[in-house]
Amino acid sequence: MVGDASDVPDVFDPRIYAAGIPHDRFRALRDLAPVARQEEPEILGWPAGPGFWAVTRHADVVRVLKDSGTYSSCLGATQIRDPDPADLPFIRRMMLNQDPPLHGRLRRLVSRAFTPGRIERFGATARERARTLIGAAVADGGETDLVRTVTDDYALLNLTDLLGVPASDRGLLHAWTERVIAYQDPDEPPVLDAEGRPVNPRSPAMLAEMFAYAQDLAAYKREHPADDIMTSLATSELADAELEMFFFLLTVAGNDTVRSAAPGGLLALAEHPDEQRRLWTGQAVMDTAVDELLRVHPPVLSFRRTAAHDTELAGRPIRRGDKVVVFHASANHDERVFPDPHRLDLGRTPNPHVSFGDGPHVCLGAHFARLQLRVLHEEMRLACDSLELTGPPRRLVSNFINGVKSLPVRLREPSAPPA
Ligand code: HEM
Repeated sequence: MVGDASDVPDVFDPRIYAAGIPHDRFRALRDLAPVARQEEPEILGWPAGPGFWAVTRHADVVRVLKDSGTYSSCLGATQIRDPDPADLPFIRRMMLNQDPPLHGRLRRLVSRAFTPGRIERFGATARERARTLIGAAVADGGETDLVRTVTDDYALLNLTDLLGVPASDRGLLHAWTERVIAYQDPDEPPVLDAEGRPVNPRSPAMLAEMFAYAQDLAAYKREHPADDIMTSLATSELADAELEMFFFLLTVAGNDTVRSAAPGGLLALAEHPDEQRRLWTGQAVMDTAVDELLRVHPPVLSFRRTAAHDTELAGRPIRRGDKVVVFHASANHDERVFPDPHRLDLGRTPNPHVSFGDGPHVCLGAHFARLQLRVLHEEMRLACDSLELTGPPRRLVSNFINGVKSLPVRLREPSAPPA
C-alpha cells in the first residue's frame, strides 16, 4: 500500500539534503502519502532507529504543531534520533522539549528578556556590522564566499551582542553550535565514546563545558549588569539548571537558523535575477520579501513530536509512542496553500509559511531574526548593483538544518562596469 516504508520516497537520509531540498520526493509524499512511514537505518555511524511518520502537507503540519496534547515535545524530545533514555530527564529541562502547561512558565519568564525595545536597539548595531562586512567583501574585488566573509560572522556576532557574550569568547559559541548542528556532516567528525560509538552532541557529557561557561557568564552579569539577555536571565527566578539550558537553547536556536536564512535568501536572489532586481530597485516591500525568502529557504527542515495517545492523522492511524516528524520545507511548498509554490515571488501575500513553526513553541526569536535579515538585505541593496553565483553552493549534510556552507558569488559595486 502506498505509504508503507518500502514504496515511499526517503526523506530521512541526511545526505539527500546536501543536494538541496528534495522537492520531488516531498511532492510525491504530499500527493500520495501525506503521512508516510519512514525507515531510520544506521547512517554515518549513527545507530538505526524505529522509524517515524513523515508529515508533509501544510494543514497537517500546522495541526501537529498546534496540538501539543496529542503530539508531545516532551515524551521523546524534538529531534528525529531518539535520545539515550538516560539523557531524557536532562534534555527535558529545556523548554523546547516541554509541553504546556509546564512549558508556559519558562516561556513567560524568558519572553520578558526579549523586549521589543531591546531587540530594536540591536538593529542599529546589526546595520553597522552588515555595512562593514559587506563593504569589506565588495572592496576586496567582489569575488567572495559570502558565508565565510559575511553571513557566518553576521549571525554569530548579532546573537552574542544580544546575549551579552564578550567578544573574546565568540569563537567558543561558534564551536559549540557546530558540534550540535553539524554532527551529521562529514566536515564535523563525531566525538566517539570508549566503544567507538558516536556520542550524542546533546548529551550531558558533551555540554558540560558550555554549561560551566553559562554559569560563569551569569555570575559576571550579576556583578556587572548590562542591557542584554544574559543579564535578564541571570537576575530572574530561573534555577541554575534552567539558565544553563536556556543559554544552550539560545546559542543553537539563535545562531544556526540565521546562519542558514541569510545565505539561503541571498542564494535565492542570485538564482532569480529578476526578483533580485525587483528587490534592489525598491519595487518589492522588504518585509514581505524577507518572508518569501524564508518560505523558499526554511532554515529548519523538520521537527519531531511523539504521539501521547492513539490518534489519526490524514486517515492514518498513529499509535501512542510513535514518532511524528513535521517537514517545514514541504509544508512551505504545499500547492494546496501556496499558488505556484516553486516560484519566488517577493510580493507574495498572504504567506502563511511555517518557517518559524506554529503553536506553543512558535519561534521566540522571530522578530530578532526578521530584523537581522531585513537589515542585511537593505545593506546589500545599498552596497551592490548585483549578486551572481560564481560556483555551486555547498550545503550541510543534515535532515534538521538547511545549512549553506559556502556561497561563492560576484558582487558588483554600483558604479562598476559590466565584466
Ligand atoms: C530565521 C531564523 C529562525 C528560524 C527559522 C527559527 C525557527 C524556529 C522554529 C521552527 C521553532 C519551533 C520549534 C518547535 O516547533 O519545537 C523555534 C523555536 C525557538 N526559537 Fe527560533 N528560529 C530562528 C531564529 C531564532 C533566534 C534569532 C532566536 C533567539 C535569539 C530563536 C529562539 C528560539 C527559541 C528560544 C525557541 C523555542 C521556543 C519554545 O520552545 O517555546 N530563534 N525557532
